[in-house]
Amino acid sequence: MVRYAEITGWGKCVPPSVLSNSDLEVLTDTSDDWITTRTGIKERRISHVNVSDMAVVASLHALAAANLEPTDIDLILLATCTADLVIPSAASLVQAKLGATNAAALDLNAACSGWIYALNVGTQMVRSGGHNRVLVIGAEKLSFLLDFTDRSTAVLFGDGAGAVVLEATEEPVGLRSVEIGTDGSVADILCVPGVGTAGNRYQGDPSDYAVHMDGPEVFRRAVTAMGEASSRVVEQAGLSVDEVDLLIPHQANVRIIDATARKLKLAPEQVFVNIASYGNTSAATIPMALTEALQEGRVEPGANIVFAAFGAGLTWAAAVVRWGRRVEPLGTSDAHLPPVDKTAAELLEANVAFYGEGRRSE
Ligand code: COA
Repeated sequence: MVRYAEITGWGKCVPPSVLSNSDLEVLTDTSDDWITTRTGIKERRISHVNVSDMAVVASLHALAAANLEPTDIDLILLATCTADLVIPSAASLVQAKLGATNAAALDLNAACSGWIYALNVGTQMVRSGGHNRVLVIGAEKLSFLLDFTDRSTAVLFGDGAGAVVLEATEEPVGLRSVEIGTDGSVADILCVPGVGTAGNRYQGDPSDYAVHMDGPEVFRRAVTAMGEASSRVVEQAGLSVDEVDLLIPHQANVRIIDATARKLKLAPEQVFVNIASYGNTSAATIPMALTEALQEGRVEPGANIVFAAFGAGLTWAAAVVRWGRRVEPLGTSDAHLPPVDKTAAELLEANVAFYGEGRRSE
């Protein structure tokens, strides 16, 4: 029997605290107009909980949509670069919180490309016969790695989680083609120099704990890599561009998304964009967007969906997925995060205090 891996469940978790562009105007020298026109972002979420907590809520929604229990899962792959801790993995915490006692669990860090990497790994594990039901999660708390007084990075990122369930099937659905790639020789153009064992644990410079990025260089490389990889996976899947139903790209900058869509010659209605609401949630953008696309009726049975991403590493990834017959969830869950009594700006008070009065006064 030829085995395929079908996406049978999907879900997301969005932390309640909203940080608008106007809120950012208070923290750093920026404007709603600049952020909107240069990135497409209007607001993002700031999480009061850890990555594993968001991952659990997204997973419970995905499990309900697939009508499965946590104990049905035999592998948990968590794509993240903002795990709760270095040890243990955030996936282990998710396994315990879900009660997924039959699942092995591991984190996978390919930054913003991580969820497509994990979808590929999970699919191969199912196809090889080693696993039958896999949770593939993307969850991030980028707010932990930002200096909210640094306008070159603070405006771009946000927190959130998305998850899918992969199940073995004999139907020829799921991943049709995929490309994952890395160029570590230019890793320093997007990095956090001081978090991890290479950091100076005893005398670190505070700025080393935050994202450092050459934005324009990352932009150029993202446009090239996402456009070219997307074209290649469409060709490898044996499809013409006309047969692509929906592009669900990584949501980093609406101008990068538009360039990727132009490369594939797709009309705006063939591209799913939700960056205005959440900013760049790294490995979580695509599973969150996929969940919303399904909820909005944008995915038809049998649809050919292209995913494309780019991120720190530098990494890139693109894939074509053939959707199965079912586009409705089998069940729903009322899982949600614990309530928060602080605004997003209040959650960031310690961050702003740590980084000083901010660059407004420089
Ligand atoms: N608010 C106001 N002005 C800002 C600003 C902000 N948040 N950030 C930068 N600027 C200013 C710059 O200082 C510069 O001013 P100057 O012309 O007086 O020197 C001007 O805006 C243009 O800056 P530049 O960096 O060239 O803008 P850009 O059009 O390249 O946009 C990014 C910057 C970061 C939005 C864009 O490069 C980008 O999206 N890069 C990719 C980042 C990314 O996606 N990273 C994650 C990858 S997964």
